[in-house]
Amino acid sequence: MRKPIIAGNWKMHKTINEALQFIDEVKDKIKNTDVEAVICAPFTMLYEMKKATKGTNIKIGAQNMHFEESGAFTGEVSALMLKELEIDYVIIGHSERRQYFNETDETVNKKVIKALEHGIIPIVCVGETLQEREEDKTKNVVKDQVKAAFENVSSEDAKKVVIAYEPIWAIGTGKTASSKDANDVISYIREVIKDIYSEDVSEEVRIQYGGSVKPSNVEEIMNEEDIDGALVGGASLNPADYVELVNF
Ligand code: G3P
Repeated sequence: MRKPIIAGNWKMHKTINEALQFIDEVKDKIKNTDVEAVICAPFTMLYEMKKATKGTNIKIGAQNMHFEESGAFTGEVSALMLKELEIDYVIIGHSERRQYFNETDETVNKKVIKALEHGIIPIVCVGETLQEREEDKTKNVVKDQVKAAFENVSSEDAKKVVIAYEPIWAIGTGKTASSKDANDVISYIREVIKDIYSEDVSEEVRIQYGGSVKPSNVEEIMNEEDIDGALVGGASLNPADYVELVNF
């Protein structure tokens, strides 16, 4: 059985004080241990958030990392640095990073390998643009992204990875893929994993949907057979909404 995982992606929002206040407001309301609750926050607040969530059901993730462990990479943060903070998850290859920061399938793959090497679980984002969807290329696009991300990843490691299917046209737009459409692409992604590895691995890998998820639609999305969780931007910034999302 795959454990559902609801992860907030705070993107470039909140100060340390705001983050700590958020944790204070939600921590006692997140009781359901059948669901994994994660918050992926900016680097500056990870240390404080790890401390503030000790003994709670909330896990902390980063939103990016570099694939090298150290070196002359001004402005970057490595897996080793995240490991030192005991960070649980790291988002890799979010479409905003692919679009604005030159993230490629190749760097995504290197980061996935490096995160796994240091015991940090990657949340690998894939998804098509509106144009690709209209041209009926969705499945090919996500297949190529998934194949590239998992290159040279062993089947044991692959089982730990979380994939987030985020159609780019649904991010921050209020437009959601219908839960049926999302499930359709996600079950296709599971097929791709099965082709690369085995049925075993494909049954274990957790696949989230992301794109305008909110308290009012999370339940419908989570009811779909192949959808194991959500990666939530905007709605995860509000404590009451986050609690509702996790307690879907
Ligand atoms: O990673 C989550 C994301 O890109 C979706 O954002 O604001 O549409 O929930 P949002």
